[in-house]
Amino acid sequence: MGKPRWRDSLQSGKRTYVTVVRVAPSILSADLGRLADEVRAAEAAGADWIHVDVMDGRFVPNITFGPGIVRAVRAATRLPIDVHLMIVEPERHLAAFADAGADGLSVHVEACTHLQRTLHSIRELGKRAGAVLNPHTSEESIRYVLADLDLVLLMTVNPGFGGQAFLPHVVPKIARVRTLIDDGGHPIDLEVDGGIAEETTGIVVDAGARVLVAGNAVFAQPDRAAAIRALRAAAK
Ligand code: DX5
Ligand code: ZN
Repeated sequence: MGKPRWRDSLQSGKRTYVTVVRVAPSILSADLGRLADEVRAAEAAGADWIHVDVMDGRFVPNITFGPGIVRAVRAATRLPIDVHLMIVEPERHLAAFADAGADGLSVHVEACTHLQRTLHSIRELGKRAGAVLNPHTSEESIRYVLADLDLVLLMTVNPGFGGQAFLPHVVPKIARVRTLIDDGGHPIDLEVDGGIAEETTGIVVDAGARVLVAGNAVFAQPDRAAAIRALRAAAK
């Protein structure tokens, strides 16, 4: 993911403010029998990152992907791979996902007894460090690790499955984390995940989100380029 900097950019001349958002399609909703094709299609459709949802059947009820799938995604695209670890004891698996080609590794704060140590370990592996908050988890859980973070991911559904309904009660937390990040002065991406679609994009972007994970809103649509364009349009 290089050195990303999120900024609201002024389109001079047109006198309109354009909010720059990135779209990260989640392969959870892709046709897994055609995974490489699906990833290439998302890239061709204008995706910014590819989001990989790793689930262990313990932290969440569902089981999905391991490092082998990240390796397969890596072979199919040059886009940054955004790995969302919904697993207990994520520190045990960081090196394997880093070796497989992840660019960012995000761990749930609820799964980390020593969050700062785990975030530090991710950066030691040369990867971008992310913290994920479940819908009920307070933004206070990241206040004292802001310097160790490259990304905050706020769940707008309970993690575990694609295609769930957006939880509007998380919106005020998005705004509070936006303030926390801006006040802290660290270049941290603010990402949201779950139920993101045309109808919810405006709400989360207004609140301060700048990276949109989208499973069904991209991969369940026949025209992925149109789907990504629609999300970007809804963000403005
Ligand atoms: C849910 C995952 C999400 C999921 C989103 O636990 O973390 O990334 O793929 O799917 P949609 O966008 O369909 O809600
Ligand atoms: Zn996710």
